[in-house]
Amino acid sequence: MNKKTGKVYLVGAGPGDPELMTRKAYRLVQQADVILYDRLVNTDMLEDIKDGCQLVYVGKKEGLHVIPQEEINRLLRDYALRYPLVVRLKGGDPFLFGRGGEEALYLRECCIPFEIVPGVTSALGAPAYAGIPVTHRGMASMCSMITGHLAKEEVDELPWDALAAMQTLIFMMAVGARQYIAQQLLAHGRPEEEPVAFIEHGTTSKQRVTRTTLGVLARTPPAVRSPAILLVGEVARLHEELDWFSAASDLPHLPGLEVMEVGDQGVVLADTRGQGEGEKQESEVLP
Ligand SMILES: C[S@@+](CC[C@H](N)C(=O)[O-])C[C@H]1O[C@@H](n2cnc3c(N)ncnc32)[C@H](O)[C@@H]1O
Repeated sequence: MNKKTGKVYLVGAGPGDPELMTRKAYRLVQQADVILYDRLVNTDMLEDIKDGCQLVYVGKKEGLHVIPQEEINRLLRDYALRYPLVVRLKGGDPFLFGRGGEEALYLRECCIPFEIVPGVTSALGAPAYAGIPVTHRGMASMCSMITGHLAKEEVDELPWDALAAMQTLIFMMAVGARQYIAQQLLAHGRPEEEPVAFIEHGTTSKQRVTRTTLGVLARTPPAVRSPAILLVGEVARLHEELDWFSAASDLPHLPGLEVMEVGDQGVVLADTRGQGEGEKQESEVLP
């Protein structure tokens, strides 16, 4: 008698904060018989798995050995032939620099059913947690996501003229190539003083944002460690004002402003700046 094969779900786990997982991803993780997961997946997300679920790590091994993609493909096939529900859990979104397309094509060749579950990509999640909107009226009406792997002198295949003409540039896997990227963008017309932000370990408790300019990056690149997003563009300036996530941020307590009253007319704010204790002045009514 023929046995039905299982199904493989190529699932985006989001950028790091477990709460950024989609409901669908969370449900599948709970129901899975096998979960194959990457280095960039936050293992806190694997706390609610069912009894007997097999966890298979397919990220970089110690000593930086990477499991070849062909081997991961074969593992997906073999597990799907034995178990009903296989989850391939990837950092961010499976179709953005996640090799999800290759795995889906392989599964299709093997006649194994699959589904794609999109995730919050780090390309957007990390800037959001750094208080950097990747588009912003008057600053940027387009953004591009680019792999830094191709931005190396030996293998440079990036269309620098076209990139220099874009607005927000979001480079991933670009820590090693950061200086070269800045040099190329300057050589193709971007200004020295253009703001740049690195966001390391975005959306996690280890998040660190480093702000600099293209000129400085091209000459003396700051120390940055992977995983990190390199964001180039005017919008990087907004980090200073919109940094809501870092421990140092005092955004939730606007200095000098207190809510006096919330009513039908709106919210009445008191401005206590430059005044003594108890001398609150009604300053503004927000609708
Ligand atoms: C192989 S790509 C995978 C991208 C993933 N599919 C996504 O959508 O986020 C790995 C790169 O993603 C970026 N990355 C992933 N997680 C990150 C995080 N929490 N903070 C900053 N960058 C991250 C880094 O640029 C890293 O080199």
